[in-house]
Amino acid sequence: MSRTSIVAGNWKMNLDRGAAEALTKAVAAGRDQAGDVDVVLCPPSIYIGTVGTALSATSGGSPSGVGLGAQNMSEQASGAYTGEISAGMLVDMCCGYVILGHSERRTLMGETDELVAAKVKAALTAGLTPIVCVGEQLAEREADRTHEVVSTQVRGSLAGLSADELAKVVVAYEPVWAIGTGKVATPEQAQDVHALIRSLLTEMASPEVADGIRIQYGGSVKAGNAADLAAQPDIDGALVGGASLEAEGFLAIAAAFR
Ligand code: 13P
Repeated sequence: MSRTSIVAGNWKMNLDRGAAEALTKAVAAGRDQAGDVDVVLCPPSIYIGTVGTALSATSGGSPSGVGLGAQNMSEQASGAYTGEISAGMLVDMCCGYVILGHSERRTLMGETDELVAAKVKAALTAGLTPIVCVGEQLAEREADRTHEVVSTQVRGSLAGLSADELAKVVVAYEPVWAIGTGKVATPEQAQDVHALIRSLLTEMASPEVADGIRIQYGGSVKAGNAADLAAQPDIDGALVGGASLEAEGFLAIAAAFR
């Protein structure tokens, strides 16, 4: 099956309102160079409205051809959860995607596979496409535990989903040691784990469903290394941090996945 690649910019806690608007407009203006690749921007929650307006996004989609996503959400639908944002609110603000289980949330905010699974379920119920992040720490790779750690995260973070639900998920493999370090995984290291993830998805759903699921790589992706990653059979896009804060480089990464 030919999968439509997906390249998403995770802006993390960066930029201000003016810079978010300018970057959005620059990405939208150059978006065509990415061809039929799905291009998605994930700003800080407080700027989702600003970015959505700059994209002319509606709940039916984005005429700019650039999708809108959040970096996190609550597993709860509504209620007394001070500071939290629900999946329904993200849909209301024209988001189509949400990043869940990012390693920074797992390590800094203590998010567990169980919590991530609850968030994934809530996102799917609301009609959002979850981008579910998994990845090993450096010590785990050095102890040759990468497959074990990633398998546990994939099974745990996607627990309780039907094959139909799994078919709607995007998985992002982000080795923690490659995030923000400039140390990108080699294409072979990344492909090895992507193939593992696809085999797990085959067991959890079916070969047909697993074949259709997009698996992104994340961790120090830049314009200069994107083509080698894109050439791997099971790498279907990128989740880009630092390099997504500048339109030209981000669009060059997206174009590498055409
Ligand atoms: P960098 O691209 O800055 O390494 O960040 C990757 C990441 O965490 C994307 O979610």
